[in-house]
Amino acid sequence: MNAAIYPGSFDPMTLGHLDIIKRASKMFDELTVSVLDNKAKNALFSVEERVSILREATRNLPNVTVDSFNGLLIDYARQKNVHISVRGLRAITDFEYELQTAQTNRMLSGGELDTVFLTTSLEYAYLSSSSVKEIAAFNGDISQCVPDFVARLVYDKFSKMRTE
Ligand code: PNS
Repeated sequence: MNAAIYPGSFDPMTLGHLDIIKRASKMFDELTVSVLDNKAKNALFSVEERVSILREATRNLPNVTVDSFNGLLIDYARQKNVHISVRGLRAITDFEYELQTAQTNRMLSGGELDTVFLTTSLEYAYLSSSSVKEIAAFNGDISQCVPDFVARLVYDKFSKMRTE
């Protein structure tokens, strides 16, 4: 079985993430998209909300499952008996961090976990979850950045935060 994990924060999932998921799902028999449950990060959406967004967005992709993990990626991958991590590369600015993380994961796993990079489609090269949140916080238009149902959830979050 040719399986891979696509780990990330996905706060929230963008069209760039979805593009990587669709393309990776064609390359592997099974793809697990997994949300890092990082209590230290100040996330807009809870892990459960992020998992639910990803499940909704991938419900037509039968070989994609959505999960969450905490701790080290290599431990989670070992537990699932998966040896490939998928990551998207948008620009040269991503490269240094991604290279370092991939090499660290290879070292920590004794060569058991490799990383496969997919270059982001050009139309999503500028996209990031952080910019989506920043635009939405100022009521800007995020319709080209995330699926419509995600855009509604993001605007709802910010409007709730404003009334709290
Ligand atoms: O979407 P992100 O925030 O760029 O994803 C980063 C992620 C979740 C892939 C990365 O932070 C991660 O794998 N964290 C788990 C902790 C870990 O294994 N760290 C060791 C690598 S340096």
